[in-house]
Order: sequence, then C-alpha cells, then structure tokens
Amino acid sequence: MKQLNATIITDKESIEHQLIPFLEKNEIHVEVLRSPITDIPFSHFVFIGQDIADKMDYSLIDHTTNCIGILEERAFDIARQWMQQGIKDIIVLPEEIDKLEYLIVEGRKQKEEKRKIADSTLHGGKVYTFYSANGGSGKTVLSSMLAQCLKTQFEKKVILIDFNAQIGGVETLMALEPVRNYADLLPVIDELSIHHIQNVTTLQEQTELEVLTGPKDPEKAEIVSQELVRKILQICQEYYDYVIVDAPSSFNIHTYTAIEMSSKVFYPLTTDALAIRGFKQVKAFLERLQLLTNNHLYVLINRVHTKNEFTVKDIKNIIHAEIIGQIREDYFGLQSFINMGMPFYTKKGRTKQLKQTIDMYQLAESLVTK
Ligand SMILES: Nc1ncnc2c1ncn2[C@@H]1O[C@H](COP(=O)(O)OP(=O)(O)O)[C@@H](O)[C@H]1O
Ligand SMILES: [Mg+2]
Repeated sequence: MKQLNATIITDKESIEHQLIPFLEKNEIHVEVLRSPITDIPFSHFVFIGQDIADKMDYSLIDHTTNCIGILEERAFDIARQWMQQGIKDIIVLPEEIDKLEYLIVEGRKQKEEKRKIADSTLHGGKVYTFYSANGGSGKTVLSSMLAQCLKTQFEKKVILIDFNAQIGGVETLMALEPVRNYADLLPVIDELSIHHIQNVTTLQEQTELEVLTGPKDPEKAEIVSQELVRKILQICQEYYDYVIVDAPSSFNIHTYTAIEMSSKVFYPLTTDALAIRGFKQVKAFLERLQLLTNNHLYVLINRVHTKNEFTVKDIKNIIHAEIIGQIREDYFGLQSFINMGMPFYTKKGRTKQLKQTIDMYQLAESLVTK
C-alpha cells in the first residue's frame, strides 16, 4: 500500500487529537498547520477545522486534493460556506468518524485509478471516429461492429461512444437501456476521472463492451460543452486500447472535437453518386477547417455488392483518398441480427458469420497488427 499524506488545518487541539490517531491507524502521514495559512504542502487529504473556515484562502488547496471540512457541532452556516468553496465532504466529530473511514477508502481508490491511467498513458490508446455526412451510410452499424470485434476477438480494452444526440444511435441498435449518459458528467467536469466515466456507461452484456451514450434530449445535448467532450476522449484514450466514436451526420462541435482528437477517421461510403459527391464536399470542408493536416481521413466502402452502380476501383479513381477497407452488403443477414438486438460477435468466437463481420474482422486485424 502506498503512503498517503494528510494536512490538518486547525488551531483547536480537540480536532487534532481526534483525527491524528485515526489517520495514523490508517497509515496516513499527518502534518498539522496552524493559522495564518500561507502555504499548504501537497496532500492527498486536507482537513479544515471549523475554527479556520473564515480565515482560509481556499485557492491554496490543489484541486486534486480530497478536501474535508471538520465540524464539532452541526453548524449549517459553516457547512454552507464550505459548499460554496467546493468542499463536498463534511464530517461532524466525534459521531461521524466512521464516515471518515469511508472517505479514506474512496480516496485511496481514486489514487489507484489515477495511477492506472498514468501507467497506460505510456502506450495510450487509439481514438477512431466514424463520420459521414450521409445518414444511413453505416456509421452506427460499423462502429458498433468494430468495437465488438476488437473487444471479443482481440481481447482489447474498448469503449464505444455514441455522440448521436437523438434516437437511432448505438443504444437503439444494441437494444441497450442506459440509465445514465455523458451529460451526467457535467457536474464533475473539473475533477473528471475514468471512475466517473465508467459510472455512466452501459454494459452490453454478452460482449461486456462498455458503451457511453448521450442524452436523448437534443436540448440537453447542447449544454454538453466541447471541454467535456475533449476530457472524455482524453481520459478514455488514456485508459482504453480503443475508443470508438459513432459521430452524427450533422457537423457539430462534438464531431469537430472527435475528428480533431482521432488517430483515424473512418468515413463509411456507400457506392452511389450522391454519397461520393457528399464525401468530396466533406473532405474539402474538413480541409478548410484544418482538420486533416495529419492525413487521418480514411474511406471505408460499405455495402459492396456486384450490382453496385460503382465498383471499388471506380471509387478509388474518383475520390483521391485512402480506402482502408470494404464491407460487403448482406441485408437480410445483418437485419436479423439488428432486429433481435443481438451482438455481431460473441466471446467464444464468430459462430454465425456474416459477410460484414468477416470483412470487419479483417479490418480490425489490420488495425491491431499495425
Ligand atoms: N454492409 C451492410 N449491408 C447491409 N445493410 C447495411 C450495411 N451497412 C448498413 N446497413 C443498413 O443500413 C442501415 C443504416 O445504417 P446505420 O449504421 O444506422 O447508418 P448511419 O449511422 O450512418 O446513419 C442499417 O440499419 C443497416 O440495416
Ligand atoms: Mg447512426
């Protein structure tokens, strides 16, 4: 167990005497500071005595510190003042000393989590965004398929993020019933951790794939800031091997941020004239926004069939962009999976293979081995 340290800030010996034995029992190194306070050493926990509440300069406390207010009586005015300073945990001594135990356990967990993130940052994961200006081109189906494939066939740590702030995205496709979504992260944006994110994901049971969905109320989606989107992607990238994003066809700030932060953008392209024209316009648009300076836009041709209007070769000649893969058309096979809300892959193997899942496996394999 790693050593944690705590700073107690109080002029009252009674507070000090109650806290110290408890903290030392929990192997926490303790330092006591008296007023006036001009500097606070970095601590995992800072305990502020009620006698100091008025005299504190709260900006001295590092924002990653667990800050806990200590009362010796139920003083609501002080509690309110602390809340305004952003201190969420308050303990009344001596009767709530047990709550302290809980806060310490939680604090330890958070610290562990941060360490895990730091470790995995060394080989940070990849963000792959599926974007196309055309609805119905396969963003949702293919992003879900890739996420499930990487998770079950290659045993990677994967999260699928659905930025469609309307019905018809990943949760509909996978028949999920999310209880929470990423808009619930807004209140904790300043201290956002992987722990918070995993608290609002929904698990697809058969594949154990974690899915982060959005609010289904467009008004709520609007208040989700670019800062939150950026932080979610950053933290997920640090923790997971693959972060797969299903972006909406409409180009908004979420799409912008996801494309900006992706290592690859997959553009599912159906083989018709309208889709090809749309792609050309989007490419020019993204170039104007300076979003493609690292050449990370890849075309993923979807619904390939011998009866298509254009062949893959034709498309290659028209679009001047790298084609990363092809997914065949198989309407009835795919539709039965979708109708039943069944996963495309299962852990034990690709029992019933579809043309699409075979093609996607090939793409996933090439991504993993690169
Ligand atoms: N390769 C394919 N073969 C057959 N049908 C497909 C294929 N790709 C997508 N579809 C069909 O197209 C529909 C729309 O796909 P979807 O992923 O929801 O598009 P988007 O998210 O781009 O709007 C799906 O419900 C599916 O039935
Ligand atoms: Mg979609």
